[in-house]
Amino acid sequence: MGTFMDNGLRDSLKNTDNHAISEREIQEAGQIIKNGGLVAFPTETVYGLGGDALNSESSRKIYAAKGRPSDNPLIVHIADIEDLAFIAKDISDISVTLAEYFWPGPLTMVFNATDSVPRETTGGLSTVAVRMPSNKIALAFIRAAGGFVAAPSANTSGRPSPTKAAHVKEDLGDKIDLILEGGASVLGLESTIVDMTGDVPVILRPGFITKNDLERTLGKAVLVDPGIMDKADEGKTENANTPPKAPGMKYRHYAPRGRFYLVKTDPGGIKVQDHTALAKALFSLADQSVSKGEKVGILCSRELASLLKGIDAFNGLDVYIICPGSRDNIEEIAAGIYDALREFDDNDIDVIYGESFPEEGVGAAVFNRLKKAAGGNIILV
Ligand code: TXA
Ligand code: MG
Repeated sequence: MGTFMDNGLRDSLKNTDNHAISEREIQEAGQIIKNGGLVAFPTETVYGLGGDALNSESSRKIYAAKGRPSDNPLIVHIADIEDLAFIAKDISDISVTLAEYFWPGPLTMVFNATDSVPRETTGGLSTVAVRMPSNKIALAFIRAAGGFVAAPSANTSGRPSPTKAAHVKEDLGDKIDLILEGGASVLGLESTIVDMTGDVPVILRPGFITKNDLERTLGKAVLVDPGIMDKADEGKTENANTPPKAPGMKYRHYAPRGRFYLVKTDPGGIKVQDHTALAKALFSLADQSVSKGEKVGILCSRELASLLKGIDAFNGLDVYIICPGSRDNIEEIAAGIYDALREFDDNDIDVIYGESFPEEGVGAAVFNRLKKAAGGNIILV
């Protein structure tokens, strides 16, 4: 095995508790699942909308509550590694290596499914996506629910994923039986999904556990699904030639109600942006929209906000700025993106311009989600 990813980072991905909850509430939530009901629960990534993964009727209810197309499969959440073999087969040695290293944590692996998993849960596929979250409330709840909880993110289909219980309440409050309150999600972006059914692991959705982390842990190369690496066709919603292998990645997603544009200076995406040029472009875009009478929002790093405030004419504009964090701390930005997109909606913003971040490490996941939220609308300046 190669050199492991920074152990401090890995431990922080595992130690994601920030809230306590009573044993009675956990047992009540578990019973609701066993009775075929739906419970939203916190995880370290985003809140999940849980139902019994082994009950086809529960999975149907999940699709209905979210308004989600039923060809978009659900992730099955487990709490104990011994439970994996009940739902997944042909589990390779390298899958075991990844499970032992990254679980519990923000890694989802796709395996061939056993007959125990209803096709409603897998969206008709013969494979099943499995994840063991690290959030302690999630783990206790999954055990109380019988061990296998199917859960997509607990948002209405197409809206930004929920990173707070209040977000779940807003989208699904009247459609589900219970919301377990677990405070704000520590990571704030959905798990990394890796397809383990072939000879070489393939990343289907980037997340906090990066390609580099996986390669270092396995000591061998990992691929990225070409369907999500669509640099060649930026500006389009999806890559027509290579549809993404995770069915959910083909939909417009995570979107605020206002029009959202991602603004970048580097066509390749890997290099650091030209921040001065970016600030000037954001100012002029905001200026044009304000003069059309639109309510304008800007989503950017603290550093870019300072540059904007250095432009005299910008200070005269009525613009709603949200800065989730510093661009030198991409994890901080990641944790605040979905909350920011919802905050723009709460303030009836018509058009949002967002700073683009380099697609390296966790930045790849941030860029992937922002691009989806923008429906592929990228402005190159
Ligand atoms: O962090 C997360 O993964 C969160 C929390 C709640 O655990 N869950 C989550 O679920 O993001 P959801 O449903 O919003 O996204 C699941 C993604 C979708 O893009 C879906 O198409 C893909 O996983 N997926 C599920 N099963 C799959 C399978 N068998 N093969 C390929 N992709 C699969
Ligand atoms: Mg989702």
